[in-house]
Amino acid sequence: MSTREWDIVLFGATGFTGALTAEYLAKHAPAALKLALAGRSKDKLEAVKQGLGPGGARFGVLVADVSNPASLAAVASSTKVLITTVGPYAKYGLPVVEACAKAGTHCVDLTGEPQFMRRSIDGFDAVAKSTGARIVHTCGFDSIPSDLGLLVLHDFAKAQGLSGQFKRATLAVLGAKGGFSGGTIASMVNGIEEATADRSLRKLFADPYSLSPDRANEPDLGRQRDQTGLEKDEFLGTWTAPFVMASINTRVVRRSNALLGYPYGKELRYRETTSLKGVQGLIFGGVMTVGLGAVVASQLFGPTKKLVGALLPKPGEGPDKATRESGYFKIRIEAESVEGERLHARVVGTSDPGYGETAKMLSEAALCLALDEAKLPKVSGVLTPATAMGLVLVERLRAAGMTFEAKRGAR
Ligand SMILES: NC(=O)c1ccc[n+]([C@@H]2O[C@H](COP(=O)([O-])OP(=O)(O)OC[C@H]3O[C@@H](n4cnc5c(N)ncnc54)[C@H](OP(=O)(O)O)[C@@H]3O)[C@@H](O)[C@H]2O)c1
Repeated sequence: MSTREWDIVLFGATGFTGALTAEYLAKHAPAALKLALAGRSKDKLEAVKQGLGPGGARFGVLVADVSNPASLAAVASSTKVLITTVGPYAKYGLPVVEACAKAGTHCVDLTGEPQFMRRSIDGFDAVAKSTGARIVHTCGFDSIPSDLGLLVLHDFAKAQGLSGQFKRATLAVLGAKGGFSGGTIASMVNGIEEATADRSLRKLFADPYSLSPDRANEPDLGRQRDQTGLEKDEFLGTWTAPFVMASINTRVVRRSNALLGYPYGKELRYRETTSLKGVQGLIFGGVMTVGLGAVVASQLFGPTKKLVGALLPKPGEGPDKATRESGYFKIRIEAESVEGERLHARVVGTSDPGYGETAKMLSEAALCLALDEAKLPKVSGVLTPATAMGLVLVERLRAAGMTFEAKRGAR
């Protein structure tokens, strides 16, 4: 247990994903943990606390605003771990990272915004290293299944007597069902607007090693473009469509590989796609990828912005309980080792990927940092889920109902 006033503070508890995370913590955090909800409105926080029923009584309430650095510093220094669901992160995230890095406070978030992560690495990796803080971005559907999925496959390959290095690995979404919140749409629209206004960001978004700790040390493997259209994938033996999270997940996996000293190999070609094999992939894969892409595109142009915007969830809104509970995702990572062996991993979640499973992944990441410190790698700085928590977090997520498994052979 921490000597600080709180073990875990949840900042952004009044938002859609924040409230789901509060619900998860109320149900699953051990009773001895000291928990608090934080946000900019005391009244809204009290309402979230009341909404949690008897499980809400254990939460303290803290007021902090991103525009008030002193309030962030006070919250950050009062807790061992800070969860932040205050997004878009490119707009609101950096002062939170700064406060946590300076206070030596571990921080987990749900960003999928590479420009924000690059700013966080450049601005605060050294500070976090000096204070011992673990700043861990992408602790939701992007990018835990990808980042920990490949780590599990690597670990399995080593246990099989192989080197654990791969020539290539392709993550395929086999099926996924769920919805989107106002905050997710706002974050994606904000990213595209920023990139439209700034050429250097367009270069950053296109760079497969945009999150590298040492860009000059990365291998030159030729073109590694994210998929933009329908393609027959010879390695998977099926038709595929783009996967909307590929542009962030692939960068996170490559950052993990570099931070760990290239255990997956320097020649690894890693990509992500949506499998169109079977009706499941066609329906749900299509909804997750093409659907969200079209929605975001509609918000960039005047006429469709108004028309489609009126139908979209606003900040604070997202998929209802029935949608969240009937949601799921199934992912497979197919790989070829440097020895020429085929291996594959399966990652499965049993509720809406972006909200039910994301609240679980984010909360379990925070619980892992709060409770499992002795088992974790002795690292600090701006990290990834695989480098900050690795297989210790995999065990937690398995115990919480997610599947991570690896086998020999192709499918
Ligand atoms: N990676 C994933 O899988 C995944 C999944 C879900 C969400 N996300 C990301 O998580 C973020 C949140 O999404 P959401 O749908 O939950 O958004 P949301 O409902 O709009 O919530 C945003 C939260 O930020 C708070 N906030 C805004 N400005 C603030 C400020 N100046 N100071 C303090 N708090 C402030 C809001 O507080 P008020 O209530 O006071 O306005 C609210 O609590 C987004 O960036 C989204 O992309 C990622």
